Amino acid sequence: MSIGEIIEKKKYGKPLEDSEIKEIVMGYVEGTVPDYQMAAFLMAVWFRGMSDRELSTLTDVMIHSGKTIDLSRINGIKVDKHSSGGVADTVTIPLVPIVASLGVPVAKMSGRGLGHTGGTIDKLESIPGFRVEIPIEEFIAIVNRVGGAIISQSSELVPADKKIYALRDVTGTVDSIPLIASSIMSKKIASGTDAILLDVKVGNGAFMENLEDALKLAEAMVRIGNSLGRETVAYITDMNEPLGYAIGNSIEVEEAINILKGKGSKRLFEVIETLGSEMLRLGGRVSDIESGKKLIREAIESGKALLKLAEIIEAQGGNKDVINNYSLLPQAKFRKTLIAQKSGFISKIDTKGIGRLAQFLGAGREKKEDTIDLSCGIIFPMKIGDKIETGQKIGTILANNEAKLEEAIKRFNMLFEVEETPVETPPLIYYRVSREGVHKLF
Ligand code: URA
Ligand code: CA
Repeated sequence: MSIGEIIEKKKYGKPLEDSEIKEIVMGYVEGTVPDYQMAAFLMAVWFRGMSDRELSTLTDVMIHSGKTIDLSRINGIKVDKHSSGGVADTVTIPLVPIVASLGVPVAKMSGRGLGHTGGTIDKLESIPGFRVEIPIEEFIAIVNRVGGAIISQSSELVPADKKIYALRDVTGTVDSIPLIASSIMSKKIASGTDAILLDVKVGNGAFMENLEDALKLAEAMVRIGNSLGRETVAYITDMNEPLGYAIGNSIEVEEAINILKGKGSKRLFEVIETLGSEMLRLGGRVSDIESGKKLIREAIESGKALLKLAEIIEAQGGNKDVINNYSLLPQAKFRKTLIAQKSGFISKIDTKGIGRLAQFLGAGREKKEDTIDLSCGIIFPMKIGDKIETGQKIGTILANNEAKLEEAIKRFNMLFEVEETPVETPPLIYYRVSREGVHKLF
């Protein structure tokens, strides 16, 4: 069949054969299918969607469009965790040592921040000496010796996704559930994990703003993973306010360490506890979520998880003294207190706006090539439902540029709303999606 006919078939919503999906995707990767044909195909997918069978084939073809990583020399069931991206989403840095300290190996590959969302790899680079680019052989050796490691996801994985994503970006086809699901899942599976845990964020700081779309995306990814032999579970968690207290890079590392000391944001801890116990279950360490949570609380109380983070930092060349000395992390030149201008209850937070403001200060990047400033950002411990009084300190802005600092202070007060009457705390964990179905948790 010609490429033109494959596009026509999708346009009319007729099911595609596995061979047809392979032909168009591999043709595009190899350069025999031009951008304009792939663009038309992606738009047809945007309107018509994909069946489970098509989606699983598309993902499989993408996985095998390039190299895949073999982690079979790591003993035990490897569980990877992926977040669809958010603000103050400081989950991975504490989660990896917690799970590793309880005996489930974590070979974590993470990404960098883009737009209003932060990335684990950038955050970790604020630890002096910490290496995020580590050859796979050494990565495997560290995981076997220490129990966990976090490295930068190889840019060589899934060339099909790289090329297709660049085209989606300029053809209005990014926001398609099958295209997002295959993009994320192909990279996770190509990186060699046995099981996958997805944290799909929903809300005004997330990729998916409403629950219905988030649930559709989660279900699509769970079906892909399970159909390709990787047990996959997804949680849908709230991103209608920053998850932790800190929005930046070095300050998020600080909050991550605080979490391992039993301090920091309660909502952030709750997400870590839930995802962590699910990882322990997927890794065969516990048979139910409640026992997992108990082990996690013990790992924090005993200091075992914090010690594990120190071991991981050291194994990756970093200075483990940061655990007890935060001044070793990059420090911003200027800091200024945020003062409440109104009394009442916080009713709404512009989460994306806060992420954008941190980006404006230098903590994030607009394009992949941009450099970032690891030391600046925003500390905002207030949550929806909190009562505040005029004149009260509600946060801190950290910057290396005085003009930007003043501008940020001015803009910040427009990023949340206050009401006179009490406001309810929003739910945190909405759904768990697995092979067994969708479970409502709020
Ligand atoms: N993240 C990805 O990796 N791919 C998408 O398509 C969207 C978000
Ligand atoms: Ca991320």
